[in-house]
Amino acid sequence: MSTLVASPKTGAGLTGAITAPGDKSISHRSLMFGALAVGRTEVSGLLEGDDVRATAAAVAALGAQVERIGDGAWRIDGVGVGGLAEPSGALDMGNSGTGARLLMGLVAGHPITATFTGDESLSRRPMQRVIEPLSQMGAVFQGREGGRLPITVTGPVMAMPIDYRSPVASAQVKSAVLLAGLNAPGVTTLREPKPSRDHTENMLRQFGAEVKSAIEDGFNTVRITGQPELSPQTIVVPGDPSSAAFATVAALILPGSDVTIRNVGLNPLRAGLFDVLRAMGGRIEVLGERNEGGERVGDLRVRGSDLKGVVAPPANAASMIDEYPILCIAAALADGPTEMRGIEELRVKESDRIAVMVQGLRAAGVEVDEHEDGMTVHGGAGKAPAGGCTIGANHDHRIAMSFLTLGLAAAAPIEVTGAETIATSYPAFVQHYQSLGAEVSAR
Ligand code: S3P
Repeated sequence: MSTLVASPKTGAGLTGAITAPGDKSISHRSLMFGALAVGRTEVSGLLEGDDVRATAAAVAALGAQVERIGDGAWRIDGVGVGGLAEPSGALDMGNSGTGARLLMGLVAGHPITATFTGDESLSRRPMQRVIEPLSQMGAVFQGREGGRLPITVTGPVMAMPIDYRSPVASAQVKSAVLLAGLNAPGVTTLREPKPSRDHTENMLRQFGAEVKSAIEDGFNTVRITGQPELSPQTIVVPGDPSSAAFATVAALILPGSDVTIRNVGLNPLRAGLFDVLRAMGGRIEVLGERNEGGERVGDLRVRGSDLKGVVAPPANAASMIDEYPILCIAAALADGPTEMRGIEELRVKESDRIAVMVQGLRAAGVEVDEHEDGMTVHGGAGKAPAGGCTIGANHDHRIAMSFLTLGLAAAAPIEVTGAETIATSYPAFVQHYQSLGAEVSAR
């Protein structure tokens, strides 16, 4: 187990420029959709974190040819929709909920059997949310009590198209159903209470599938027409806003900082954190905004700022669902309370992010109230919290990176154990922080 220590930044703040690592959501999908196209898909900028590597190994085990041809450059020779083969061993999805849930959808649309396994964190996470609709489509599941991994899925000879109303706004549930629907005859419909990230819809359209989205009776409603022939694509993966969020907050909370983060994906269903940080008084400028492969991308210039507490709008929670841990860190340095509600989904992420953040913030000397559906952080108006504590990452990369960021602004260093989990989404994190002048090192 590796331990990292972040020490208080002395002197001026962080300065310099980094390039955001490839988007994790888009990287997973590039590999999966490439595997379903007829012909060769070329991907550049792929995130080479542990989660995405697990997906690469899984799609190879399902019959696609997957080859790494350079830094972030991958080539996938697809087998066509309906062409996946039965894997000979279990698919180990490591820490990745996205990999597990989306691939369960894919397998459920094929007449094959596959067993999914994962690490301690993934084996605790609820899979019933995908088992329910995929069973309606004809797949059969065998798993542990409560729908936990390991789970064996057997797809039907012909998946049945369904019309499913999801109780949660979850891109993973939405994508699992749409991916099973890809190989079902006719139209599969998925309704979600709020729009979640739309990478599956956008990318499948680019690959040539018929996907229609509309708001109907207040639900985001997506319809996919099954059994298309998908044509291979050249994909440039944009930088991950969820990873860029860490250096953004680090620069905001350290006075005198001036940091540029290049190539940040700014899809409106992903970029909610930046709006909240601006409402807090954060100086974040978007430079060179452009469209790359159907996604909005820009460079962020972030400067040290006096932040004030706000209410993070629950209505926008889906657009920043992975960013609440790092928002807590900005809130800890802000003037006044920051209220984050309507985020009970955080309790079933890589860790119970509400409980783990509350406990860690208190250990670091930050006052915080826990609610069933969120938390309220009482900021110290720029005054350094005590720090001087050890935080367990709990198999959660975003918890690890959030507390290392707080360590830079605390009065005494913060140590994070289990920090190897950072490699699931951001292998260059320490190197990037060091290059901006932050003191983060292995113990
Ligand atoms: C993801 C969807 C989100 C997010 C996860 C990635 C995706 O999960 O938390 O990190 O790529 O579809 P939910 O869809 O379950 O909210």
